[in-house]
Amino acid sequence: MLGWKIMVLTAVAFVFISMHVLDSRLKCNMPSVISSLCSSFEEGLVSGPLCSDLCQHFSIHVGKCLSMIPEKMVYEGDWKGLQVILKMNMDWFNTWKEIQKLTDGDVLRSYHHEVSYQVETLFGDCQACGNLTSYLMLLSDSNKDKIITATEARTFISLLHQIEPTMLMVLNESKNTVDFYGFCGGLYLLEKVPIIASQVFGEKWAFQDFSPLPDIFEPLEETFRSYLAPKIVNVAFSIPYVGTFLGDALTLTKYIVFHSFFQTYAPSENEKFEFIHSLLDAVLNVSSNPYGMLQSCDLHLGNFGVTNDSIVKVLDLDMTYPVNLLTSMFEQKQCSSDDDCWIGTKEDYLVNICEIQIPFIFRSSTILMLQKENSFCLSEAIRKLVVFCKELPFIESPEQLRDSIISVKERLRHIESTSQLEFTL
Ligand SMILES: Nc1ncnc2c1ncn2[C@@H]1O[C@H](COP(=O)(O)OP(=O)(O)OP(=O)(O)O)[C@@H](O)[C@H]1O
Ligand SMILES: *[C@@H]1O[C@H](CO)[C@@H](O)[C@H](O)[C@H]1NC(C)=O
Ligand SMILES: *[C@@H]1O[C@H](CO)[C@@H](O)[C@H](O)[C@H]1NC(C)=O
Ligand SMILES: *[C@@H]1O[C@H](CO)[C@@H](O)[C@H](O)[C@H]1NC(C)=O
Ligand SMILES: *[C@@H]1O[C@H](CO)[C@@H](O)[C@H](O)[C@H]1NC(C)=O
Repeated sequence: MLGWKIMVLTAVAFVFISMHVLDSRLKCNMPSVISSLCSSFEEGLVSGPLCSDLCQHFSIHVGKCLSMIPEKMVYEGDWKGLQVILKMNMDWFNTWKEIQKLTDGDVLRSYHHEVSYQVETLFGDCQACGNLTSYLMLLSDSNKDKIITATEARTFISLLHQIEPTMLMVLNESKNTVDFYGFCGGLYLLEKVPIIASQVFGEKWAFQDFSPLPDIFEPLEETFRSYLAPKIVNVAFSIPYVGTFLGDALTLTKYIVFHSFFQTYAPSENEKFEFIHSLLDAVLNVSSNPYGMLQSCDLHLGNFGVTNDSIVKVLDLDMTYPVNLLTSMFEQKQCSSDDDCWIGTKEDYLVNICEIQIPFIFRSSTILMLQKENSFCLSEAIRKLVVFCKELPFIESPEQLRDSIISVKERLRHIESTSQLEFTL
């Protein structure tokens, strides 16, 4: 009796594992993508500062596949001994194929206009936008010969059609985004951070804690849809540029559950405070860029990395948009209620961190150490901090954001010093 049960279980496990392996083969096919990029490079149809390293010197090595989303390749790798992340969104090929239809002359004549149009779409007519356009044009000159060829233009325009590499290039000056090392076609190389915040603190989305049961996967996705749907998804889906990315994000919620199982390290109270301070610094820095305020629609701890010198870095900018872009998207839409047209950094980084991530990060103090008087004080102090955050003004400028972040940080320091005092008593 027990025998056939074991056989069935073994068979099921075998089928499951084989399907999983097949699944990853189909989805994790970076080597074939690279050979396709490289043959186009040999034909002179693709360019990029990293193409010779990738296709001629073979100094870029592909390691482990990190994402199971077929359109979005994320790999570990090695570039001349440096640990890197390789990324590519397969949508790049579509734009690139589309642009092949234009003649070289047309591509070159409209190139400056195309780049400045992308910049304007993102940031409006910001003061530093002219500089940004020149900076981006410089990046597209792959071989640095001060002449932009039609191939360089086609390759780069296709990259600018994607929000993530574009934002990473735009924000590369910031010490709080992962460094953008370069690209070949639609493939780009990024700094690899040693620690992902969710590996240390767990993964927290903007809704209730989940229990580790398989059947919660679907409700989780539903919850996410209903949370985000009235706000951004509907609007964004009407714009092809961002629609595909938001589509990805909806399927992502399934994988997040797995991350929370693999926490191996329990951070100390002190480390929690330090992390939150660095996180707030990172948010302030990224939002105070010269081009315009940003809004993230995908704020979770899996999108933040920590360097070995404790700097918090934003890893994934797929769902980070300039407020200007979101505003113009909403203007083009007929809004019948506030829920259709939602915008504002009030609901964004700071509020999310303060009202959701901070209580989440300190959750273990409330569960495991509830009996202890001092941890009760800490959780009460965190609860009061959340109330304080709810009353923060609606944030419309980097200055306001800075003031609010300073006041939150002051409160955190106060909580930290009183809780340490209680610990030593
Ligand atoms: N710069 C980086 N340094 C280190 N690890 C990274 C970096 N970028 C991404 N990763 C790792 O690769 C994984 C996948 O990356 P990313 O989040 O961009 O893709 P995804 O398909 O959206 O993944 P996920 O489903 O995990 O959110 C992340 O969970 C993260 O652990
Ligand atoms: C544009 O760049 C130049 C040189 O890098 C700099 O001096 C100038 O301040 C920048 N302008 C703006 C508006 O940022
Ligand atoms: C991005 O910044 C890093 C660190 O400052 C630098 O090493 C890298 O060359 C920059 N990337 C580009 C494309 O300029
Ligand atoms: C953000 O960091 C960059 C350097 O990485 C720095 O030049 C800039 O002043 C910082 N901005 C703020 C607002 O702290
Ligand atoms: C952090 O990592 C860099 C290289 O990735 C290394 O050069 C540096 O020594 C490390 N610093 C610490 C404090 O470990």
